[in-house]
Amino acid sequence: MIVPATALQGKRLVLGVTGSISCYKAVEVASTLAQLGIHVNALLTASATRFVSPLTFQAVTGHPAYAAADLWGQEAHILHTQLAREADLLAVVPATAQFMAAHAGGQADSLLLVTALACACPMLIAPAMDGGMWHHPATQANAELLRARQVQILGPAAGHLASGQVGVGRLVEPDCIVSHIRTLLGQQGSLQGCRMIVTAGGTREPVDPVRFLGNRSSGKQGLAMARAARDRGATVTLITTVPCPAEAADDIVRVDTAQEMQHAVAQACTAADVLVMAAAVADYRPAQPVAQKHKKDQGPPDLVLVPNPDILASLRPQQAKSGRPRIRVGFAAETEDLRQNAWRKMEPKGLDLIVANDVSQPDTGFGSEYNAALILDRQGGVDEVPRTSKYHLAEKVLDRIETLLAGREV
Ligand code: PMT
Repeated sequence: MIVPATALQGKRLVLGVTGSISCYKAVEVASTLAQLGIHVNALLTASATRFVSPLTFQAVTGHPAYAAADLWGQEAHILHTQLAREADLLAVVPATAQFMAAHAGGQADSLLLVTALACACPMLIAPAMDGGMWHHPATQANAELLRARQVQILGPAAGHLASGQVGVGRLVEPDCIVSHIRTLLGQQGSLQGCRMIVTAGGTREPVDPVRFLGNRSSGKQGLAMARAARDRGATVTLITTVPCPAEAADDIVRVDTAQEMQHAVAQACTAADVLVMAAAVADYRPAQPVAQKHKKDQGPPDLVLVPNPDILASLRPQQAKSGRPRIRVGFAAETEDLRQNAWRKMEPKGLDLIVANDVSQPDTGFGSEYNAALILDRQGGVDEVPRTSKYHLAEKVLDRIETLLAGREV
């Protein structure tokens, strides 16, 4: 589900598209970015228009898209300088060997090349070409030169190539490109410089080598918190029990059990500004997981449970000593008396905010794309967030975190 990102509204992207069979994937990139609220103007080279048309980009972005011939159109005297002046980011997707060579050489004989020269904003390119072309010393030298000029190069990826061969040269997948673009566009945001730890997913407590005690957390709310924080420029460490794309955070730590999560959180928190515990952590674990698979003919296993550490509560001494993390946010998954039950967790867990969600309702909470919650603060204040996307709830929580951070500035 693509949800407009408040922090990215109106950011301007010039999307260069050069002639590769993977041009069609740039349409998906443009469409997703437009749905996020980013203003996208596509600039297609002459060879790109043999694969896709400016009209396609115009249709999916709702903004003018240009072809090489527009260099000489009515707007020619200002078009490239205006696009370059207004751009927050120039991304070239896909970038051919020809484009890389021409831009590395400072050439200026097409609308995209003159715009690229005129841009002072950051630039990202996602190369796509045959493996032999990518590995050629000329292309590698151009890539080095561009990197030295602070151009970010994303990919190419390895896999099936248009030539029928398998190797390095594929365009990186659209999701990954979108993620990098939104991170670059968000980096000057309101949480720039803030180091945030987010936990996601349900812990798994082993019973034997093949079975575990778990819960229904999918990690979506934690992922949405991480994504929304990055869209505002935070540096995010995501501690997760579920697999996440590498670009979901600056640093991803995979864990399974509550004890592993406690260890990872304690380590990450020594230098953190904010901790958001969206993970559903098991309160109990089997006392003695057995070493071999429990067999059916042994009858039902005797499960003796012992308490897990309370991760949030266990951070209190560290927090008292070092002052870190400066802000602690918990989530409370409840099925009744939402407000009272969540409120009771605030003090013992040493929280600044607790986000209480009712997990008994259909299509919110566990596994859903949506959530509904009360955000409670230590002063007894309550914000009600009716059913909305998990990303939007994350934005509301971040608004509260920003206010708290501002109040604690030294
Ligand atoms: O992952 P999704 O499918 O998107 O679902 C999201 C969610 C419903 C899991 C999420 O919104 C949520 O409510 N997460 C917290 C669930 C939970 O464990 O609630 P709790 O009331 O048991 O714990 C309260 C807080 O203490 C939580 O922040 C929890 O991470 C933390 N905790 C809990 C137990 C424990 N041993 N140590 C802890 O630190």
